[in-house]
Amino acid sequence: MEEEMRAGLRGEGGKIEMIVSYVDDLPNGHCATPAAKLDGVAAATEEMKAGLQEEGGSKIKMIVSYIDNLPNGSEEGLFYALDLGGTNFRVLRVQLAGKDKRVANLESREVSIPPHLITGSSADLFGFIASALANFVADEGPQNKVVLGGKQRELGFTFSFPVRQTSVASGTLIKWTKEFAVDDAVGEDVVAELKTAMEKQGLDMRVSALINDTVGTLAAGSYNDEDIVIGVILGTGSNAAYVEKANAIPKLNGELPESGNMVINTEWGNFNSPCLPITEYDQALDDESVNPRGQIFEKLISGLYLGDIVRRVLLKIAMQCSIFGDVDSTKLRSHFVLRTPDVSAMHHDETPDLTIVAEKLAANLKIADTSFETRKMVVEICDIVTTRSARLAAAGIVGIMRKIGRGTPGDKRKTGIAIDGGLFEHYGKFRQCLESTLVELLGEEASKSVSVNLTKDGSGLGAALIAAAHSQYAN
Ligand code: GLC
Repeated sequence: MEEEMRAGLRGEGGKIEMIVSYVDDLPNGHCATPAAKLDGVAAATEEMKAGLQEEGGSKIKMIVSYIDNLPNGSEEGLFYALDLGGTNFRVLRVQLAGKDKRVANLESREVSIPPHLITGSSADLFGFIASALANFVADEGPQNKVVLGGKQRELGFTFSFPVRQTSVASGTLIKWTKEFAVDDAVGEDVVAELKTAMEKQGLDMRVSALINDTVGTLAAGSYNDEDIVIGVILGTGSNAAYVEKANAIPKLNGELPESGNMVINTEWGNFNSPCLPITEYDQALDDESVNPRGQIFEKLISGLYLGDIVRRVLLKIAMQCSIFGDVDSTKLRSHFVLRTPDVSAMHHDETPDLTIVAEKLAANLKIADTSFETRKMVVEICDIVTTRSARLAAAGIVGIMRKIGRGTPGDKRKTGIAIDGGLFEHYGKFRQCLESTLVELLGEEASKSVSVNLTKDGSGLGAALIAAAHSQYAN
């Protein structure tokens, strides 16, 4: 047999033809994230340093948030928050009652943004948001007026896109991410846009703080646990913020805050490096996205994209062989028809026949007829894509820890990491993999002093807390 094979490879026309497939790399090989590769990602600390050196110094923007103190629990009063970062936004009213009583009351309303506003004009988007905020205020009971005691309402604005902050309450939009494309807002001060829209609604509110969701998550996390120094979002998008020593930020030009600290919004989603395990599916997803060549790390990790990566793998399989039967590929070719919650449901399918996988394939992709083996393969694909995502996210966290000298074997300090976002909250296997990879990368011993906390809806609460700390009435 061996001789026949050799002859086939030599092209001598043996019985065994030995056909060259031109597939020179299997997807799993590309996708793999061995510790050595993850070490390369964690070495993004060098990129982080470059980003802190000067504006534009690195793909990782390392945005100065102008938050130099995290909440300490003494915050008091009634504050509002507006949390915009995806296709839904939230408005909140938070009653803060100081050290003992903490959050005395929190009410919120979620509003979904009509799809045409996500790619429309800035005035329309902010007009829609301001009107929802005005309705929220108009619906509040008379007791709030009493609580306000004649003071102007104050708002913390969580705006979860890359913004060049110019102060704690102003900043210009650098670019949109996460499939938003409201072009005339780029380069504008988003607080000014919001204020104009609020004025049109006759809404008298002061915007006391403009923050990123990672900064809000970090603030809300540290409000409950002072060991928290890193805030991470693993949801539609992905990003992290952390507490940096002000004297490690050359781009502050020596203007060091009294606390000696500064919260940095890394915008790690835009990280890119040859060490990232990028496949042909990622390449195609990027090419066809609204922001090609941007947010590469985010496109490998976050919830907006995982479902679509899996869809692309299934499409290729459907085109190359017939294991899905005679399938009409219209659905399989449609972007984003398979979402990350569907991937999670298939990945966690514990029914003996993988019935959930069958249902999802039929409902989302019109693949109606599959064998058990084929369904097992689909679960395997979900596992490969999600494992890569979780391991890369863990490597990103370790990169930040290295940057601030945490989690080293001799370090006795506790390091708390506050994480929010649907991917982390709802996708159990993702979360387990992220946590076990942290242990793998940090080592058993060092990882004992590291805790990962789900900080649910932290970005809204965080905005209210930071608005309180920067209130015009604060003493
Ligand atoms: C995107 C945004 C970033 C945000 C993240 C999570 O990466 O650019 O600002 O924090 O999504 O919502």
